[in-house]
Amino acid sequence: MSENRTTSLTGAPVPSDEHSLTAGADGVTALHDRYLVEKLAQFNRERIPERIVHAKGGGAFGEFVVTGDVSAYTTAALFQPGSTVETLQRFSSVAGEQGSPDTWRDVRGFSVKFYTPEGNYDIVGNNTPVFFIRDGIKFPDFIHSQKRLPGSGLRDADMQWDFWTLSPESAHQVTYLMGDRGLPRSWREMPGFGSHTYQWINAEGDRFWVKYHFVSLQGNHEIGNDSAEVIAGADADHYRRDLYEAIERGEFPAWELKVQIMPYEDAKTYRFNPFDLTKVWPHADYPLISVGVHTLNRNPENFFAEIEQAAFSPANTVPGIDISPDKMLMARVFSYPDAQRYRVGTNYQELPVNAPHAAEVNTYSRDGQLRHTFPAAGAPNYAPNSLGGPTADAAAAGVGSWESDGALVRAAATLHAEDDDFGQAGTLYRDVFDNEAKARFLDTITGAVSGVTREEVRERAIWYWTQVDAELGAALRARLEA
Ligand code: HEM
Repeated sequence: MSENRTTSLTGAPVPSDEHSLTAGADGVTALHDRYLVEKLAQFNRERIPERIVHAKGGGAFGEFVVTGDVSAYTTAALFQPGSTVETLQRFSSVAGEQGSPDTWRDVRGFSVKFYTPEGNYDIVGNNTPVFFIRDGIKFPDFIHSQKRLPGSGLRDADMQWDFWTLSPESAHQVTYLMGDRGLPRSWREMPGFGSHTYQWINAEGDRFWVKYHFVSLQGNHEIGNDSAEVIAGADADHYRRDLYEAIERGEFPAWELKVQIMPYEDAKTYRFNPFDLTKVWPHADYPLISVGVHTLNRNPENFFAEIEQAAFSPANTVPGIDISPDKMLMARVFSYPDAQRYRVGTNYQELPVNAPHAAEVNTYSRDGQLRHTFPAAGAPNYAPNSLGGPTADAAAAGVGSWESDGALVRAAATLHAEDDDFGQAGTLYRDVFDNEAKARFLDTITGAVSGVTREEVRERAIWYWTQVDAELGAALRARLEA
């Protein structure tokens, strides 16, 4: 007889997994069949809310090995020569729901959690270096316009293009999205970007502005609209499967992490606002510096526990690294932990995937739903205390800052000489796309804009692409009117 018995959640053996307790074989079910009740009740609670954005995704564990020397720019332990840290990465699509096909055209999320000896550090970026908007107050409206109509529950080209064309700062990101970058062949074959400008601080207290680039060592490969559509129908989980199977085969995907470094003072006089998330920094101005290699080498054992409940946040920083005066980034620092307290639960940071793996937690936070870690009995419950409890590091106060002045206002950032909405989008279209890529781009925007039914929005879409490139706008008009 097998000793491998099913038990209830309290560990007691259960009498049957197939038959409810009934009054006679054909009679009513007994409410005191507590195993039946437990089984149905637990089942009803298996789902948690999906992420409000980036709901569909997948991921794996790995390691980050430093191969360069950036110690002149940051004291962060994870980036010092000789350092190796465990990592978790999650890839995703922005707009689709949990079950949506991986190969729908979209921006892809690229999140990395570094389990460092100084606490967990997260880079929560995308496969594009820019974003649609530059102030976080617009984010809920932007996402509403990309998701579904409240009435019909359908996605809608009119609201997508209405929002984009009334928010011309979106042009650079929409050019990436409608270009080849919008349809990677796999997660393994796409780059990642921190996108925002972050701050690094060195041992002397000098500050630098930094942008992260993950360069795929598998190369970048994309698929066209037609293949993407076929794959979407045949295998909605194409990217998730590709990553999982590659790692099972021992083909471990890797990315080289590089950074662009801007001296602190340059930001004030740079030709455009370096904290504007709709802009890239030309490599000619700030060349790429190699930091290390990130390799994914271990699949999750449990998708729900380790990927669905994973909580990445730009608020998770470590000493030697901080945020910048990018209004999007400052909004994100609030938004992610707030979303995760709701989506996963108050004590989400205690879960094994979210807790630090290489650092200790010493906190005066207490209690709350499902708390299961606690300090030794008698440990002080408040700070300051005279009982030997943990103390904050006063030397760290003021590190990772920047100067600001003026009254509180609601206004766009002070203008730099070359701040505009369309310039870098035009450069991407004209100078980075080759002729074939330009032709595919025109096909894609023609298809997308032809789904717009309101004449006013369609005209504005033609105006928008004309600002990016006059010939492109004319070609789009000709194609739409053909
Ligand atoms: C102010 C603007 C933004 C807000 C308010 C915002 C908010 C959110 C929220 C609430 C989530 C779900 C978090 C969770 O439930 O775990 C999320 C996920 C995500 N966001 Fe944002 N977001 C913003 C901008 C961005 C930008 C600019 C990027 C990329 C550069 C980005 C990349 C991601 C990624 C990759 C995820 C998925 C994280 C994961 O893999 O679990 N978001 N965002």
